[in-house]
Amino acid sequence: MSKESLKNNTVLHDTASENAGEETKRQFEYMEKVKGHVADLEKELGRKPTACVVTFGCQMNARDSEKLLGVLTKVGFEEVETEDADFVIYNTCTVRDNADQRVFGRLGYVGGIKKKKPWMRIALCGCMMQEQSVIEKIQKSYRHVDLIFGTHNIFKFAELLNTMFESDRMIIDIWKDTDQIVEDLPIVRKYKFKSGINIMFGCNNFCTYCIVPYVRGRERSRSPKDIIREIEYLASDGVKEIMLLGQNVNSYGKGLPENEQLSFAELLSEVCKVDGIERVRFMTSHPKDLSDDLIKVIAENEKVARHIHLPLQSGSDEILKKMNRHYTKESFLLLVNKIKQAIPDVSITTDIIVGFPGETDSDVDETIDVVRKAAFDNAFTFIYSKRTGTPAAGWEQVPESVSKPNFDRLLKVVQETARERASRFTGQTHRVLVEEINEQDSSLVTGRMSNNTLVHFPGDADLIGEFVDVKLNECHGFYYTGERVFE
Ligand code: SAH
Ligand code: SF4
Ligand code: F3S
Repeated sequence: MSKESLKNNTVLHDTASENAGEETKRQFEYMEKVKGHVADLEKELGRKPTACVVTFGCQMNARDSEKLLGVLTKVGFEEVETEDADFVIYNTCTVRDNADQRVFGRLGYVGGIKKKKPWMRIALCGCMMQEQSVIEKIQKSYRHVDLIFGTHNIFKFAELLNTMFESDRMIIDIWKDTDQIVEDLPIVRKYKFKSGINIMFGCNNFCTYCIVPYVRGRERSRSPKDIIREIEYLASDGVKEIMLLGQNVNSYGKGLPENEQLSFAELLSEVCKVDGIERVRFMTSHPKDLSDDLIKVIAENEKVARHIHLPLQSGSDEILKKMNRHYTKESFLLLVNKIKQAIPDVSITTDIIVGFPGETDSDVDETIDVVRKAAFDNAFTFIYSKRTGTPAAGWEQVPESVSKPNFDRLLKVVQETARERASRFTGQTHRVLVEEINEQDSSLVTGRMSNNTLVHFPGDADLIGEFVDVKLNECHGFYYTGERVFE
């Protein structure tokens, strides 16, 4: 791709498939070039240039941000948390409209900072950038942005940074889709002791409300060899807990070459064999694909976290059908019971949408009924947000006067049931991975139980990254306070 075409400020679509190994080498060469530009900036400023990565959205984006930070650190930037940095990149989410609005809000704010710091560079990437209308809006109203790229070409970040430093125009490079998976680029983890790992990218489910398949492209699984190799490396680098990431991990493996065929249950079982990894989580499970084999692997393997995030979305059969979810209220409840029977100490959490086109009060009654019967440990509730380009966007929308009271009604039941459910471990001793010093009280540390519940207990920074046994003395809604127990 010529630099001239980039300078014209056009949106580029490029789906050329290259050999991944070669591509990794190419990007490392670009990192060397960018190092030169960052060194020039350092001379000009008389100090090390700073970079800030701001992340919106899901675990997938959080992992992508670690890849961005990997490159930024490698080329000589110092990481900072504040947006008055010399380079700021927003890794965006577009799953609901409020996510978009927050990004536009930040862009306005950071534009003000750039006026006082003309050398500052601002970049945008992630899911929101895969939408043509967003790009047009930025081109028109946010001229202070220097670089825009999407979800499919994030592996080109070093190359794009180089182009940005060599140009004074807005650089835009968005791909429609890709079949490429580029391995072994630098990554800087947020936590030393835990890490997310992509096992697959994209989504093929096309739930009718959801923008993700359009902005993340078709589902593709990483090779099991590459996944295990990465986990072995992480274990050797001090990681004890990992989270396997995919939009629908239960469909992992489709499309892998014959000699690498592996189901998610098999992959999970393999991952548990890696020495040094003490706890394995995964996100997200689609109820339509959660197999008996998977339940068995979880039940039999203490390393697998006692937590399954199982998005319900709605409890009404009619709405589930319109959502293209491929399960019914009954089959969902049967699945929940089966899981609870096989894994009695499991926590099940869920996502629910209220106000999907056509949803009536009695549909929400059905959802509330499932919440009561399934007894979720927690439920994330969302008001339906119309996403342009999805089928449901074209259907008659539910007015806020109907969706808002229904949302409040649901939330009340969710909170009641979750609160009751959360306290069931009181008095027990559980193994927790200590994550940080408590934000409110520095004499306490915060750890996470296998089922994802947080526990605060007396301790100091030396415990961070360690597994310890904690007696759960008191439940406070969604978290516990407790004390360490020594064998
Ligand atoms: N792949 C996951 C979820 C990804 S998006 C799954 O299949 O469950 C995370 C959550 O956002 C979804 O579970 C859904 O509850 C919510 N969501 C997605 N699109 C939405 C929309 N248009 N409006 C409101 N909530 C939405
Ligand atoms: Fe969206 Fe459905 Fe795919 Fe989840 S499974 S990302 S909700 S389309
Ligand atoms: Fe958002 Fe993209 Fe994740 S739209 S929820 S950041 S996959």
